[in-house]
Amino acid sequence: MPARTVVPALFLLGLPVALGAPWALASEPPDAGPDDALLSALGCGGCHEGLPAPDAARAAAPALGPGAPPLSGDFVFEYLGDPVSRRPEVAPSRMPDFQLSEGERVALARFLGEGNPGPALSAAVGRNPGSDAGVGRALFGALGCAGCHTHADAPEPPGTAPSLAGAADRLRPRWVRGWLDEPGPVRPAHLGGARMPDFRLTEAELDVVTSALTGADGRGGEADPAVPGWMSDGVPEVRAARAERLLETRYACRGCHVVAGRGGAVGPPLDGVAERLLPDFVARMIADPAAARPGSAMPRQPMPPREAEILAAYLLSLDGPWRGPSSETPGRVIPSLGGRAVATTSAADGSVLYATWCAACHGPGGGGDGWNADALTVPPTVHSDPAVLSPRPDDVLYDGIHGGGWVLGRSPLMPAFGEFLTPEQIDALVAQLRTLCECEAPAWSRDGGGG
Ligand code: HEC
Ligand code: HEC
Ligand code: HEC
Ligand code: HEC
Repeated sequence: MPARTVVPALFLLGLPVALGAPWALASEPPDAGPDDALLSALGCGGCHEGLPAPDAARAAAPALGPGAPPLSGDFVFEYLGDPVSRRPEVAPSRMPDFQLSEGERVALARFLGEGNPGPALSAAVGRNPGSDAGVGRALFGALGCAGCHTHADAPEPPGTAPSLAGAADRLRPRWVRGWLDEPGPVRPAHLGGARMPDFRLTEAELDVVTSALTGADGRGGEADPAVPGWMSDGVPEVRAARAERLLETRYACRGCHVVAGRGGAVGPPLDGVAERLLPDFVARMIADPAAARPGSAMPRQPMPPREAEILAAYLLSLDGPWRGPSSETPGRVIPSLGGRAVATTSAADGSVLYATWCAACHGPGGGGDGWNADALTVPPTVHSDPAVLSPRPDDVLYDGIHGGGWVLGRSPLMPAFGEFLTPEQIDALVAQLRTLCECEAPAWSRDGGGG
């Protein structure tokens, strides 16, 4: 990219802030507003759909790898730990801080660096023997480095960052501002290690970026969103009791989310969610995740509209502050669940489907020992145990996967997948369960009209 694209961004960033008249330059071409210029310079669109193309960031970020000026492994290892500006002329473009672990830095340094490791990297390699160049290459793709840097041998970026199209209808400006200032995990379980890096934005940049995404600068001056009528229907205590009963007897929300202090971590924690999300979006997400968030990894739990509102009102009443899942959540390194997986699992491949949508709770081999299992009050069924599955006809297994645990009179923590997966995919999962248990359905069910 020509350097030309960088100059207006620079100019826009410095000057209007100094004049106290942000972003109102008459000379700016109408199609690239100043917000767009800053977003392009920062490169947000290199990872997120729905934002301006990251042209200016791509022009500013040096090419890496074969054919590019060589970097030593030690330099890459140190630099990734504290990516300071080396080329002030490319500002406001910059290398963001991914807050990488030592092992991740070792792997990336071995993938990107040339020559023999110097003393710093050698010592770190000794502590992280598994972090080889192959892992570094996979990380380069998973983390979205190629959103800004060209690299002759980079894998396809997996595209796990959430789309930010329509962010203004979903996210609270105040939350966005605070979180961009100090990003942490939101939905780690299905991101395969991807994370939002810290751009170390200045206050002025936070104003612009938050406004570009949400229409307000997030300093707290914006009007509170309209309160939907259903939020104030009836007596709050009665509504809360009704919502709790739905969660305990009917819906799988606590299988995947923390609600009122307990539950799984497949989706973001919901306590304090009023601080993060707009009320209307919470209700839409529960009623129909695929419509509220195209490509969403949340399977719709079928329910009448009234119950979606009761649950939404309850969630919005749960006190904040909202806190993301711990970055220690093991789901962070599970590459399978969600995002891109939605697209790639359209095929009815039972083992892929199981790894993607079931293993978090039931375990990769069906041992009932998924990383999310400990958070559940009812242990996930052990699918590898023939004593458990051989008495069950195939159509019972089908119904449980389709309608959720409660249709079988079992724990509602088992989600309903019938509106998320196709009948062919559920058939493939039933076959996969038979593979895991190395057992068959009872003879009577196979002979008769049962299956
Ligand atoms: C290297 C890839 C990458 C870049 C570049 C990037 N992001 Fe992100 N961003 C992510 C990932 C991954 C997430 C999801 C984090 C999670 O859910 O834990 C995310 C999440 C977000 C969210 C929260 C969305 C939600 O629904 O919770 C916002 C807001 C956001 N990014 C804004 C930005 C802005 C503004 C920029 C540019 C300054 C930017 N991002 C640049 C990867 C990136
Ligand atoms: C949002 C855009 C963006 C993303 C995403 C990004 N970088 Fe960078 N990176 C830059 C920019 C811009 C520079 C140059 C900064 C400077 O010199 O001031 C840079 C510099 C670097 C450098 C120093 C190279 C040199 O010659 O000085 C390394 C190494 C690097 N990045 C590695 C990575 C890795 C590894 C990832 C993924 C984990 C990554 N980058 C993701 C924008 C980005
Ligand atoms: C199988 C796991 C699963 C089940 C069951 C589930 N969710 Fe989700 N949920 C997710 C995932 C994954 C996301 C993040 C999806 C995304 O951003 O695309 C999510 C997102 C959400 C969000 C948006 C949160 C945010 O911070 O962006 C809300 C609200 C929500 N779920 C509520 C519910 C409620 C209420 C139920 C029960 C009726 C439920 N979920 C059942 C997995 C699940
Ligand atoms: C959020 C955690 C969670 C996820 C994700 C999940 N399950 Fe379950 N599942 C459970 C729990 C908990 C039970 C135990 C219900 C009980 O024993 O009362 C269960 C029970 C079942 C049963 C009932 C077995 C019986 O006793 O008849 C089947 C079948 C099943 N799961 C299949 C699946 C499949 C297939 C997937 C993936 C598409 C899946 N589950 C995803 C938590 C989960």
